[in-house]
Amino acid sequence: MRIHVCFADLKTEPWVEGLRSALPQAEIQAWTPGAAQADHAVVWAPPQQFLDEQPRLKGIFNIGAGVDALLKLRLPPEAVVVRIDDGGMAVQMAEFVCHAVIRHFRELDGYEADVKQGKWSFRRPRERSDFPVGIMGLGVLGQRVARAVGHFEFPVLGWSRMPKALPKVRCFAGDGQFGDFLAATRILVCLLPLTPGTQGIMNAKNLSRLKPDGYVINVARGAHLVDDDLIALLDSGRLAGATLDVFQTEPLPPEHPFWRHPRIAMTPHTSARTLRDESIAQIAGKLLALERGEPIAGVVDVERGY
Ligand code: NAP
Ligand code: GLV
Repeated sequence: MRIHVCFADLKTEPWVEGLRSALPQAEIQAWTPGAAQADHAVVWAPPQQFLDEQPRLKGIFNIGAGVDALLKLRLPPEAVVVRIDDGGMAVQMAEFVCHAVIRHFRELDGYEADVKQGKWSFRRPRERSDFPVGIMGLGVLGQRVARAVGHFEFPVLGWSRMPKALPKVRCFAGDGQFGDFLAATRILVCLLPLTPGTQGIMNAKNLSRLKPDGYVINVARGAHLVDDDLIALLDSGRLAGATLDVFQTEPLPPEHPFWRHPRIAMTPHTSARTLRDESIAQIAGKLLALERGEPIAGVVDVERGY
């Protein structure tokens, strides 16, 4: 069995080494143009040339949760696309989102600014019930985030494509319930996959439906957000602030207004990192199961887009 590793902008060597240890029976190499046909591929945003040269791939294992970059490409006809499901990302996402929610709710930025100026001053405690957290996307990551936010006793709402029943989460589904979900949300968390149906979903129209002083946390993809609409809503006072981990162009260009906006907190696409050892173990296990013809988790529905 031959496996090619093909990444844009990421070192392949540690993955090749790790995969060789996990799958000693396989021949594993970093792809170079013209390489022999492989059975499987481990990829992150590969070039089209790679897929065009590998028409008989059986499995394409994406080393992240989001497959939007991969699905833009022409895929080999028989290949099953498999993404990382959780692999240690869900707990990272839960801690990141809880941190952002709590930082906003407890006004920690304000306290930090006070302390820097030598001020010992208190703010009036706020009511948790006034800060319902609405999570768009109730998949592997969204459900874990919903549980974690719920531990801090914020009201939790969630929105997905298909109806769900989750403990202590007020669930909404589909376009028909989207307006009600937004109207009941003050802190909006985006954990949707990027698809034609979700691109630009955080636009002026939708963000204006949030409760007053809404707050946006985008940890999914930059293209879910219409940047100019967010800035206009922050500047008009309609929204209170935002925490952004993902951007339309990454790295964020130096001239982008987000860098200097006083009510935007940013991180460089780091809210939930792919953990190499856990991911290699997950991919190796799934690849062998796929070879045996067994069902595996994380198979992407290419038509649906996630
Ligand atoms: P997932 O398990 O596939 O969950 C996706 C969720 O989104 C599902 O609940 C799905 O609804 C819902 N959804 C999809 N399209 C929808 C639509 N049109 N309307 C309403 N709901 C819709 O994905 P995941 O593993 O949780 O990951 C989510 C995303 O997080 C990834 O695609 C990736 O872009 C992003 N991510 C970011 C980072 C980071 O570091 N910033 C790290 C990892 C992942 P159903 O349940 O009804 O299907
Ligand atoms: C990271 O953004 C991922 O999709 O895993």
